[in-house]
Amino acid sequence: MSTDSLYIDLLKKVLIDYHRMEMGETPPLRKDKRHKLRYKFLFMLENMLKNKGFTVREKIPYNKDRRELGLDWPAYAESMIGLKRMENIEFCVNDTIQNHIPGDLIETGVWRGGSVIFMRALLKVAGVTDKIVWAADSFEGLPKPDEEKYAADKGDNHHTLSDILAISEEDVRNNFKKYGLLDDQVKFLKGWFKDTLPTAPIEKLSVLRLDGDMYESTIQALDALYPKLSVGGYLIIDDYGVVPGCKKAIMDYRQQHDLTEAIIDIDGSGAYWKKLR
Ligand SMILES: C[S@@+](CC[C@H](N)C(=O)[O-])C[C@H]1O[C@@H](n2cnc3c(N)ncnc32)[C@H](O)[C@@H]1O
Repeated sequence: MSTDSLYIDLLKKVLIDYHRMEMGETPPLRKDKRHKLRYKFLFMLENMLKNKGFTVREKIPYNKDRRELGLDWPAYAESMIGLKRMENIEFCVNDTIQNHIPGDLIETGVWRGGSVIFMRALLKVAGVTDKIVWAADSFEGLPKPDEEKYAADKGDNHHTLSDILAISEEDVRNNFKKYGLLDDQVKFLKGWFKDTLPTAPIEKLSVLRLDGDMYESTIQALDALYPKLSVGGYLIIDDYGVVPGCKKAIMDYRQQHDLTEAIIDIDGSGAYWKKLR
C-alpha cells in the first residue's frame, strides 16, 4: 500500500471514529454552557435513579457493524455516514478524476463536515488543483417542514433535533483545520438550500452528494444542481433507503426529467448513480 492509500484509509476511519469504542448514542457535544449543564444534570439524575434500582434507558453501545453502515449518530466523529458511504465517496471522486470529468464537488448537508473534509483530502492526494469542494448547509440544522408545499415532509421532526444537528460554520471550518485541509479549494454556502443553491456561483459539478434528510432539502438541491452535474459525474443520495421523503423526491425528479440511470445501492441507506446523458 502506498503512503497515499494508507493516509486515505486512515482518514476515512478517523472521520467516522471507526476504531474508538465510544457510545453510539451520546449527549450532543455542544460548546455552550446551557447544554453542558443540562447534560450534567441528566447524567447525575440517571446515576441517582440507577443507584435506587430503577431501570434507566441505556445508551446504545458502540457497534462496529452499525458504524460501518452509518446507522448511529456518533458523539465525536466528524461524519455520521459510516464506512461504506465513505468508500463510495472515494470511488466516485477518484473515478471522476481518472476520467477527467469536469466540475466541482458539493455536499448539501454537511453537519460536522466529515464527508467534505474527505473529499478535499482525495483531491489533495490526487494533486487536483482546479476543483472546489462546496459545503452547503444552514449551519443551524434542518428547516421546519413546509407542509403546504411539500406534503411528503408532513410530521418531519428533524428540526427539533437542532441541539444535535445544528453545527456552526465556525465548527466545521475548525474541523477542516484540524486535518490541515482548509484552503481556497473549500467554499461554504451558508443558508437554507432554497436561498443559497439556485444562485450558487457553481458552473459545473462532477460529484453531487445530497444529505439533507427531507423531501424539501432533496428536491431543492436536485432542482438547483442536477442540471450542473457533468455527464460521467455522480449523484449520491445519503438517505435514499431510510427517509421515505428523500426517496420520493428522487423518484419525482427522475419522473419529471425522464431519468433512467440505474440506482445503485451502497449500504441499504445510501444510493448513487452515474449521470449518463
Ligand atoms: C444528516 S446531516 C448531514 C450529515 C453529513 N453529511 C455527514 O457526513 O455526517 C444533515 C445536514 O443537512 C443540513 N440541512 C438539511 N436540510 C437543509 C436545508 N433545507 N437547508 C440547509 N441545510 C440543511 C442540516 O443543517 C444538517 O447539517
